[in-house]
Amino acid sequence: MRVSKRTRDYQESVIREMTRLAIEHEAINLSQGFPDFDPPEDIIQAAYNAMVSGHNQYSPTWGNLELRVKLAEQYSNKLGWSVDAEKHVTVTCGVTEAINVAMFGLLDPGDEIIIIEPAHENFIPSALLSGARPVAVPLSEENFRLDVDLLKKALSNNTRALMLNTPHNPSGRVFDVDEIRSITDFVVKNNLILITDEIYDRILYDGRTHICPGSIESLRDRTVTLGGMSKTFAITGWRLGYIIASSNLMNAMRPVHDYLTVCAPTPLQMAAVTALNLPEEYYDDMLIDYHNRRYKIMSILNSLGFRAQTPEGAYYVLADYSNVPSIHCDKDSRSFAVWMTEELRVAVVPGEVFYTIPGYGEKTIRFAFPKRLSTLQEAANRMESYFL
Ligand SMILES: Cc1ncc(COP(=O)(O)O)c(C=O)c1O
Repeated sequence: MRVSKRTRDYQESVIREMTRLAIEHEAINLSQGFPDFDPPEDIIQAAYNAMVSGHNQYSPTWGNLELRVKLAEQYSNKLGWSVDAEKHVTVTCGVTEAINVAMFGLLDPGDEIIIIEPAHENFIPSALLSGARPVAVPLSEENFRLDVDLLKKALSNNTRALMLNTPHNPSGRVFDVDEIRSITDFVVKNNLILITDEIYDRILYDGRTHICPGSIESLRDRTVTLGGMSKTFAITGWRLGYIIASSNLMNAMRPVHDYLTVCAPTPLQMAAVTALNLPEEYYDDMLIDYHNRRYKIMSILNSLGFRAQTPEGAYYVLADYSNVPSIHCDKDSRSFAVWMTEELRVAVVPGEVFYTIPGYGEKTIRFAFPKRLSTLQEAANRMESYFL
């Protein structure tokens, strides 16, 4: 039977495949980026309350109004312009849907979108599904900095958009003022749309601050800001994300969301309002916990001989295993990750899945560390028995 041409150029997610392998081998799952701890009790209670008080049907397509109003209030502050809940906010089923909505709504077949690599695994398939051509630009291999000259080289007459992700998965970079300035100049000068995935905007280390590119005046009308609840509130299974954009761009995207999913889960959207009303102490405590987890994973990796840059944000480490004391170091990253999952029973993601550029990501694996310290310690015990 013939299947759609659109689906031939990419395969199922390797990250989700590693999770399946982890379950099969009872491995500790440091592959897919989800917490093994519970979300705040208040928001679980709010979801329950919404369900038992009759909020179980479709919500308005663009999202529960109270949630949109809350997001509009927060993003008016973050972006420095008057975000209107009616016009500029759409609630989606996770940032995953938001990425698809942005690309399907804004790109045409034949358009090119620049994607910075290493890249979150969904960007390229979403671009391909929209019919656009993804054009990869690598971050520097030694410190994952962005070189604007490489962006310029990737430019063609068909370039329509640039996909950014900061704080960055999988490198842990938080792009700094200089990098954001060069991205801004590049986008404005070449009349591009900037799609910016900021799902980790609240997970920042060592006092760093997150720059929302959509807050820069010259980018205001050409930026699509994507954010979500999955990571900040430890609710990756609730599937809640959102898009903030000017009316012009939003009007093109909203019908896509409408026909893709109609709306995000109604009672969970209501609980998201409770989440967004949590006091600042919630974020302070969350950051203390993430600093502890980062310290733990970096200590483990350093003691085992992995080479890795300390994350500045998000909750991943992309680690080079070439110097780990094991006869398996010669394996390519996919075989190494499968071996670790099946034999050591610690699941990780092969670095090569974050690149389409040949030769990049070799000898690296990604560790996700949104886990209890005891889980990270158990992973360390399993690895030590092989590597030390
Ligand atoms: C950069 C990035 N964007 C989007 C997502 C998916 O987010 P959501 O759970 O909101 O679909 C992830 C999940 O790992 C991610 O790392």
